[in-house]
Amino acid sequence: MLKNDLLLRAARGEETERTPVWLMRQAGRILPQYRELRGRLSGFKELVETPELAAEVTIQPVDALDVDAAIIFSDILVVPEAMGLPYEMVEARGPLFPNTVKSAQDIARLRVADPEEHLGYVLEAIRVTKTALNGRVPLIGFAGAPWTILAYMVEGHGSKTFSKARRLLYAEPELAHELLRKITATTIAYLQAQVAAGANLIQVFDSWAGILPPDHYREFSTRYIREICQAIPDVPVTVFAKGAYFATADFAELPCRTIGLDWNEDPRNVRPLVGDKTLQGNLDPCALYGSPEQVRQATIEMLRRFGPHRHIANLGHGVYPDTNPDNVRVFIETVKEFSATLRA
Ligand code: CP3
Repeated sequence: MLKNDLLLRAARGEETERTPVWLMRQAGRILPQYRELRGRLSGFKELVETPELAAEVTIQPVDALDVDAAIIFSDILVVPEAMGLPYEMVEARGPLFPNTVKSAQDIARLRVADPEEHLGYVLEAIRVTKTALNGRVPLIGFAGAPWTILAYMVEGHGSKTFSKARRLLYAEPELAHELLRKITATTIAYLQAQVAAGANLIQVFDSWAGILPPDHYREFSTRYIREICQAIPDVPVTVFAKGAYFATADFAELPCRTIGLDWNEDPRNVRPLVGDKTLQGNLDPCALYGSPEQVRQATIEMLRRFGPHRHIANLGHGVYPDTNPDNVRVFIETVKEFSATLRA
């Protein structure tokens, strides 16, 4: 079925002839063809909610960058919207929730979303993308981890501290669990529907993992991520929890295949703690601001640290919008060429 299944084989822990490579946020503003299409539309949500357009943007980096995977063009914030809390994407500022979750009544009013009814546009985008990809590369589906989704629902927008969301964990832990249970139930049904629609691998983004103390992380995040992993037995799952270096030993016990590392972590320290799991990452996105030769050297150094097998090459977080696509190409080409020589 798939002409290039390197990503899936590496995720399953099989030996591969070279290391697969893709980039978090590869679809988006780094590509002129994305900015051109986006400029003709009313906004981000029109792109996300129109399956044919979402599919087109999903495939752009496969054509333009020759990556080994596509990731469906959507956002983690479609989940709170499906539960009854709509988001806006404010130009040049980021997401905003006009209403936030403040009380038990607010949580009671939220629904466990039905994937086909409330997120059908994402599922349709997956189906359209799969048809158009015609097996060229695997398609990655995704969702936010419940803790990160709670953080946006309570805070209402991005924040350095997310102190409203963190306050809830201390002041009203039972309310937090009630909300996390609803988010988890929605996320499980949504991800199962993504797999049924054709997603070949699922990534869970816990972007705000690193702001919790280890005990809170275990109580309010890892356990819900575990439930999600358990509910997705049919395709490999990647857990990317930014800043959660303190949780590595717990992640080793999760029923997931791959653990994503941000650029603060050294894979040589993580590898001995995670058994036969695959690691993903972790070049500093800012390394792509260097000269092509610097990008090449940094990429080679990264590949050496991970070793040849059980590695999916990526950045340590999403690519920054002002990155030169030519340097992204140097990163991708270096992974492909140098990782093959690591096997020799
Ligand atoms: O290429 C891909 O990776 C697929 C698309 C994707 C988007 N968002 C599109 C997007 C993915 C996987 C996401 C996930 C996401 N969204 C996360 C988790 C990953 C991470 O970065 O930690 C988070 C926290 C969000 C929430 C979000 N969406 C923020 C904070 C912002 C504003 C910041 C920014 O990058 O602009 C967004 C907007 C967003 N999501 C854009 C894109 C392409 C930019 C909006 C635009 O093009 O107008």
